Amino acid sequence: MKLQRLSNKVAIITGAGSGIGRATAKRFADEGARLVLNDINKATLEELAGEIARKDQCVLVSGNIALESTAALLKETALKRFGRIDILVNNAGIHWIQDITETTSEDFDHVMATNVKSMFLNCKNVIPEMIKQQRGVIVNLSSVSGYVGQEMLGKSTFLYNMTKAAILQLTRSLATRYAKDGIRVTCVAPGVTKTNQITTVHTPDLDGFWQAVEGVQPLGRYADPAEIANCILFLASDEASYVTGTSLVADGGYLAL
Ligand SMILES: NC(=O)c1ccc[n+]([C@@H]2O[C@H](COP(=O)([O-])OP(=O)(O)OC[C@H]3O[C@@H](n4cnc5c(N)ncnc54)[C@H](O)[C@@H]3O)[C@@H](O)[C@H]2O)c1
Repeated sequence: MKLQRLSNKVAIITGAGSGIGRATAKRFADEGARLVLNDINKATLEELAGEIARKDQCVLVSGNIALESTAALLKETALKRFGRIDILVNNAGIHWIQDITETTSEDFDHVMATNVKSMFLNCKNVIPEMIKQQRGVIVNLSSVSGYVGQEMLGKSTFLYNMTKAAILQLTRSLATRYAKDGIRVTCVAPGVTKTNQITTVHTPDLDGFWQAVEGVQPLGRYADPAEIANCILFLASDEASYVTGTSLVADGGYLAL
């Protein structure tokens, strides 16, 4: 018999149109969850809805998650349609490859807003509902980039790394504050995963880029988005009932080097 680890749980997933968010949405649907799916790209979100199990248990909310209005709409939609919010997956994020000397303050604000303010807004909106329920799980997408300094294609990824480190701390702070309310807050820190975030990297030699990535992973390959979705599923499920305030690093051994 197929496991239904999220049977009738209501989950909000941001950035669900592509990559890790898309794989997570499909996995959650297979595990019986009722879904409120967000992406800034309406077309990819609609395409995903066509592929998902139990379409009638899935609502789409397109919009920029860095805006307070989108976070509020996600919460309102979940409550109106399903009456509760069990799981929030703060997944949407963008990469940044540029040295600090070439980065404008507008660039800085944009990346911070997309990767960090979005999670602040979603948590701020959803936590009061989880407190009322005395139950809930938040899974944030950090990265191995939150732990180390990195360069890609000869440039720094400092700003991306700063945002991913902020997410580790957001996770710890909310976990200790709301543990008494039955809310677990965790994050997943993936290593390089084959998604649009990475395949849109501008290089004349993308194949060479992937080979170089494989060369520095102890497991000798990059991750498939479905492997990261498995980690998110575990943390969101009751199987992780004693896990909070921490990060699950899924990086093929990269940080162990
Ligand atoms: N791919 C990797 O190697 C990797 C590694 C570590 C962490 N991550 C993290 O995983 C998460 C998912 O990334 P991915 O690799 O699946 O990337 P992706 O580009 O494939 O998917 C990200 C999705 O987020 C959406 N999005 C971007 N800005 C948005 C906004 N303002 N509002 C709503 N949606 C928005 C995009 O349209 C896209 O569908 C990100 O937080 C990323 O930083 C990725």
